[in-house]
Amino acid sequence: MSSEDEKRTAAVASVGLVENGMTVGLGTGSTVAYLLPALAARGLDIRCVATSPRTATAAGELGLRIVDFSEVDRFDIAIDGADQIAPDGWLIKGGGAAHTREKVVANAADRFVVIADASKPVDALHGSVPVELLAYGLSATLRELAHVVLRDVPRSPDGGVIGDYHGDLSDPAALAARLSAAPGLVDHGLFPPSMVNDVLIARGSDVEHRVL
Ligand code: A5P
Repeated sequence: MSSEDEKRTAAVASVGLVENGMTVGLGTGSTVAYLLPALAARGLDIRCVATSPRTATAAGELGLRIVDFSEVDRFDIAIDGADQIAPDGWLIKGGGAAHTREKVVANAADRFVVIADASKPVDALHGSVPVELLAYGLSATLRELAHVVLRDVPRSPDGGVIGDYHGDLSDPAALAARLSAAPGLVDHGLFPPSMVNDVLIARGSDVEHRVL
């Protein structure tokens, strides 16, 4: 089974957690792209908030009711993908540059569910961490953080500049605190285990359900 099939399998499994009347946060990415039709097919009376214009457009075209975040102050459930999932539940997100909105939604959710194919669990976080930076004072922020490479992509929907922090990821909590302490950093793609409730990982046609 391909990783695309696994993404679909995990996404389909997650929609079983959504119930009539719920307010639902929708993430962003290629795994969420499989979530949207599966959720729409259930025909539930739900309202959804999207974490990106891409998700909002796709969900709306499928008939899901998208409301503005200003109408909502919490979610019953939010479902999203991840780039890396560590054994202790730390995540790296933001490959699609939507991590700031995704974190606001995840943090406001009673239940945050991560859906992933078998390539996403890792023994230890590695590579780089996506960051969103204020355009104001950008060169000073880059100097302070020292190891950020800017991406050649448009700004986030909220005007932020997108880059990736390259450095030691062996202590995610310490790195998250250091990044968050930089005033010019809007948010980073490290999501703590305390924010995550469920992880659904598809391996072939099986789904492993980790509860954190
Ligand atoms: C979007 O910015 C990201 O956080 C995605 O949720 C994450 O990169 C997972 O994306 P895929 O589902 O495309 O792997």
